[in-house]
Amino acid sequence: MKHAELSPSTAVAAEILPFSHPQGCKGYLVADSASLEALAVDPHLDLAGAMARVVEQRGFKLRYVVETHTHADHPSGALALAASFKAVRAVHVAAGHHDVGLVLKGGEVLRLGGLAVAVRHAPGHTPDHIVLHGAGALFSGDTLLIGAVARADFLGGDAGTLHDTLRGLLHDLPGTTLLYPGHDYAGRVSSTLAAEQSGNPWLQIADRDEFKRQLAAHPPPRPANMDELLRFNRQGELPPPLLSGGELAALVGQNGAANILDVRTGAEWETEHIQGSRWIPLDELEKRADEARIVPAPRLLLCRTGNRAQMARASLEKLGLGALRVIEGGLESYKASGGLVVRGRQTISLERQVRIVAGGLVLAGALLGLVHAFFLAIPIFVGAGLVFAGITDFCGMGLLLARMPWNRATGAQASCSTGGGCAAATPGSAPEISGGCAASPPDR
Ligand SMILES: [Fe+2]
Repeated sequence: MKHAELSPSTAVAAEILPFSHPQGCKGYLVADSASLEALAVDPHLDLAGAMARVVEQRGFKLRYVVETHTHADHPSGALALAASFKAVRAVHVAAGHHDVGLVLKGGEVLRLGGLAVAVRHAPGHTPDHIVLHGAGALFSGDTLLIGAVARADFLGGDAGTLHDTLRGLLHDLPGTTLLYPGHDYAGRVSSTLAAEQSGNPWLQIADRDEFKRQLAAHPPPRPANMDELLRFNRQGELPPPLLSGGELAALVGQNGAANILDVRTGAEWETEHIQGSRWIPLDELEKRADEARIVPAPRLLLCRTGNRAQMARASLEKLGLGALRVIEGGLESYKASGGLVVRGRQTISLERQVRIVAGGLVLAGALLGLVHAFFLAIPIFVGAGLVFAGITDFCGMGLLLARMPWNRATGAQASCSTGGGCAAATPGSAPEISGGCAASPPDR
């Protein structure tokens, strides 16, 4: 997508490359077409790898990684992306993040070759919010969304200040300005200020007090695990890679289970699972990666004892997902620590199935060995496999059995997962997101 920004005497060609996350988060690369100098806006941790690949493929010289504000709903990839290209990480002075190369106050101009990108302080959603204007576009972060505005009920947000900021932006910038928001929960890419001015219900509310009243009327749920996300986004403090069953039980009691990703088989899930967790079996993680991306970070990976969760972490890391934690000891440890589960149809656990099949093969091989010595190869092979599984903790027979029809989910119960809703998440569809940055729609 190319745009030309008309400054008083020159036209500057620029490229704007949007990146969308299934959680509704938006990030951007903005590049000066002539010099290829570029900046990144609001990279989600899951998207940092994809952005880095584009920077390399296109030969961009990444100068800045800018965060429009402190994100409370997703892990930021700004630190990782900036470090990869020795780019300058820039945030507003009120953010107080560590490892910041450029502290912004508003009023600065970031230069990318001939392209000027103006920084403007835009408080309201948070006190540290900035927006960027350049290349004929406004990168509005969460201040102004398509058909919506930001919420202002946490992190020092203020609805009256947001009202003032919005009025100022609309007053100062032309209606033709393209709007690239920090979130969109319906898969849209951009809008214009004119379209928002006429169609965005929040911009029809001229009275400041009425705007404040409406914004406070229906606060959406807070992002899951906001405290952990803030520690990561402010200090780069990664949560430990392992979480014990006892810690999980305490977390579920406190915050619910929206960020648990259960990778057991469908039959195991139907037998028992943690209410509110999301289920994607290990062997489907790759094709259902967007569903995994919807699970709020940090994602807590759960299986029966912890082994498959470790494999899930390796698979998800390959797919570019970050902020992954494995539940040590799995569901068994969680239950032993007093964690609650909901129960459904009873099935034989995968571990018992392995024991039954391995034992059956050994028995059959030994008996058939009485007929012909050739059949003794069967117990030898099974025995070697069990030793291998014991040493490496990798059980091929278990993974094979997990794919058997009787270990698949039977339907209704298995498809229900997060927050009482049903797993959405085919790419391009509007996923079920709770705890986002948009305000609930105003009363009309
Ligand atoms: Fe936000």
